[in-house]
Amino acid sequence: MRLIQRTNGTPLSSPARDFLAIEGLPAGELRRLLDLARSLLPRAVGDAPSAPELAGKIVANIFFEDSTRTRVSFEIAAKRLGADVVNLGASGSSASKGETLVDTARNIEAMGVDALVIRTSISGGAGLVAGSVECPVINAGDGRHEHPTQALLDMLALELRLGDLRGKRVAIVGDIANSRVARSSTHALVALGAEAVIVGPPALVPEGYDQLSNGVGKITITHDLDGIVGEIDAIMMLRIQLERAAGSGIAPDYRASFGLTEARRRKLRPGTPILHPGPVNRGVEIDDAVADDANDSLILPQVSCGVAARMAVLLRAFGHG
Ligand code: CP
Repeated sequence: MRLIQRTNGTPLSSPARDFLAIEGLPAGELRRLLDLARSLLPRAVGDAPSAPELAGKIVANIFFEDSTRTRVSFEIAAKRLGADVVNLGASGSSASKGETLVDTARNIEAMGVDALVIRTSISGGAGLVAGSVECPVINAGDGRHEHPTQALLDMLALELRLGDLRGKRVAIVGDIANSRVARSSTHALVALGAEAVIVGPPALVPEGYDQLSNGVGKITITHDLDGIVGEIDAIMMLRIQLERAAGSGIAPDYRASFGLTEARRRKLRPGTPILHPGPVNRGVEIDDAVADDANDSLILPQVSCGVAARMAVLLRAFGHG
């Protein structure tokens, strides 16, 4: 078992093996991860045999915020690669007695765990952990900061449908201000040469958001969904985050202006893919019939892509691929 000696407060874990954000990730590395994830898809969904690249490794999922897709897909991804997995939530752990995220992570690492997957409500929380442990740290969503594996899976799902994303216009619609998914996917789209068309009510789109990211692509902002809905190549609806948006004054007519209703969906170009990271507030940001559309809704294919994306990130964390 490793004995961790923290020395001078500088990051202990290797930044090259951490996966904390899309911002700052070189475009070539994003490309490699997407290609790796794509190659892993058959294994991710059980259509090809598993291979035990990570046999003997232990991955700890520390999820101090609720999750269905991310937690379970990280667990499946690790198991498909032959690793063992331990899961820890806020409820049932000593976090409920006031132990900090960093103390929790350091204690788990001291038990010999080989990688930590962190979900936290603290923006920048995964980075805090990475600065305090030696093993690789993967951000599974930290507050309003980033959700980098969600962006990977979103880009994979988009590329499977649209091919090369260069020059494509992808609308991201909803609660931009509170969304780590929007931040990560915006960075990814710009890195891949697409246009991120940011759409939402003024109160939910931070000023200067069009300067968020530098890359081959670009960011544009509009508050008029109907004005662009027929001119985009894909649309990503965001969940209205009721737990983060308290007091933001989200109008009761949000759905009428920004929901992907059945009527508005008819204004999309035929075949435009529809994404949503989940969990879905049905009847708020997206109508049932749109979310469940068998041809154009990518909501469940996104979830399948999530296993492959997380396999790719885990392999990178351990120096494979
Ligand atoms: N998309 C996403 O992060 O979903 P979960 O909160 O269920 O993990």
